[in-house]
Amino acid sequence: MHKLVIHGGLPLKGKVSIGGSKNSSLPILAATLLTPEPCILHGVPNLSDIRYMLQILQFLGAEVEFSDSTVRVQARNVQPEAPYDLVRKMRASICVLGPLLARCHQAKVSLPGGCVIGDRPIDLHLKGLSALGAEIRVEEGYIVAQCKELKGAKVELYGKFGSTVLGTDNVLMAASLARGTTLIEGAAVEPEVADLVEFLQKMGATIRGAGTRVLEIEGVEELHGAEHTVIRDRIEASTFAVAAVMTGGELLLEGAPFSHMDSVLQTLRSCGARWDITPNGIRVWTNGPLRAFQLQTEPYPGFPTDMQAQFCALACVTPGRSTVEERIFPNRFMHVSELKRMGAQIELLGNRATIEGVSHLSGAPVMASDLRASAALVLAGLVAKGKTTVHRVYHIDRGYENIDQKLQQVGAEIRREVVS
Ligand code: EPU
Repeated sequence: MHKLVIHGGLPLKGKVSIGGSKNSSLPILAATLLTPEPCILHGVPNLSDIRYMLQILQFLGAEVEFSDSTVRVQARNVQPEAPYDLVRKMRASICVLGPLLARCHQAKVSLPGGCVIGDRPIDLHLKGLSALGAEIRVEEGYIVAQCKELKGAKVELYGKFGSTVLGTDNVLMAASLARGTTLIEGAAVEPEVADLVEFLQKMGATIRGAGTRVLEIEGVEELHGAEHTVIRDRIEASTFAVAAVMTGGELLLEGAPFSHMDSVLQTLRSCGARWDITPNGIRVWTNGPLRAFQLQTEPYPGFPTDMQAQFCALACVTPGRSTVEERIFPNRFMHVSELKRMGAQIELLGNRATIEGVSHLSGAPVMASDLRASAALVLAGLVAKGKTTVHRVYHIDRGYENIDQKLQQVGAEIRREVVS
C-alpha cells in the first residue's frame, strides 16, 4: 500500500502530457468481446481499472497483451460468467454484460456491489437489455441473463438523474449484434459514448446518431476486428488545469481534448483563471485573484460530476463564497470531511456544498475515499502550508497514470512512499 507525501506551496510550471481516457477505454475493451478477431487499441492508460478489465477479459477467455499503451485483445472463444472476485473491484465491469449476451446469448455477471460515491443502480442497463429480448433475473448476487436471440427494439434510457453512460454502452453493444433495428432514446452523449460508437463502426456496426440523444443501430450478423486510438482523458486534463490555477502556476496540457472540456473551461474562466488553446494543447494560468463561483453537475455537455471534488478543492482557496451542487451522484461528497481537516470552511446541506474560501489550507494526514475525492485531496495538498499525507492512494491509481511523477515534473514536491 502506498501514500503520497506532499509539501505544498509551489506553483506548477511546465508541460503535462494528457493520457488516453479511462472511461473510453473500459467499454471499448469490453466491446472486443463482440468478435473472435483481434482488436488493437492505442492510447490506453496503464491504470489499475484498465488492468482489472484486462483480467476480466482473460477470465472470459480472451488473449490479452498490453504494452506501451497498446492493447491487443483476441476473444476467439468466450465463456459467459464474470465472477464476484473480479467484478467487485470495478463497477465498470458491468459493461461486459451486453457483449456477453450478444456473443454467447447468455451471461452471468456478478452485481458490482456498493460504491462510496453513493447508490449506483443498474436498472436502466437491465431495462434496455430486456427490451432487446433478454430474460434477466438476479440470483445469489449475480445478474443471470439469457436469450434465444437479441431483437432490435425501441429502448428509452432516461433515468431520474438523466441518461446513463455505461447503460447506453451496454445496450449499444448488444444491439450491434441483434436482429433488426434498435432505437435508443435518451442515450448518453458523453464523448466516451461517441468514442465507443466509432470503435463499433470500425468493427462493422451500423450506428447512426453518434453524439446525439437518439441512436439508431441496425444489427449485423457479425463484427470483425478493428484498430482504434482512444480519445484523451478530459478529466485528467481538467484536474491538471485546476492544479495550475490553484497553485498560481502555468501548465501546458499537451493533447488535452479541449472540445470535450467546454463546461470546465467556462467555469475556470468564471473564477478568473485564464486559458488558451494552442496547437499542442491547452495552456492554463492565472494573473490576478480568483473569484468565487457557482456550479452544478449535469450530464454532458454540463459540468462533469467527475470534476466536482476537484472544484471543491479549488473553492476552498478561492476568496468569497462558492456553491457546488451535485446532481448526478447526490452523496458524492466524501472529500468534504477530509478537506475540512485541512482547514476548509465547507457547509454541506444535502447535495449542495457552500464553501467559504480561506487564506490557506494546512497540511494534514488525510484519507482518500474514491478516485476523484483523492484527486481533490492531492490538489489541496499542493497548496496547503506544510506536509499533507494522502493515504489509500490506490484509489487515485485507478484513474490517474503516474500522477506523482507528472506533478513532480512540473515542480511539485510530492513523493510516493510505501506504507510500512
Ligand atoms: N443510474 C440509474 N440507473 C442505472 C444507471 C445509472 O438510475 O441503471 C443513475 C446513476 O445512479 C446516476 C446517473 O444515472 O445518478 C448517471 O450514472 P451513469 O450510469 O451515467 O454512470 P456510470 O455509467 O456508471 C460513468 C463513469 C463515471 C461517471 C458517470 C457519470 C465510467 C467507467 N464511469 O459511470 O466515472 O461519474 O458515468 O458521468 O465511464 C469516475 O471516472 O470517477 C467515474 C465514477
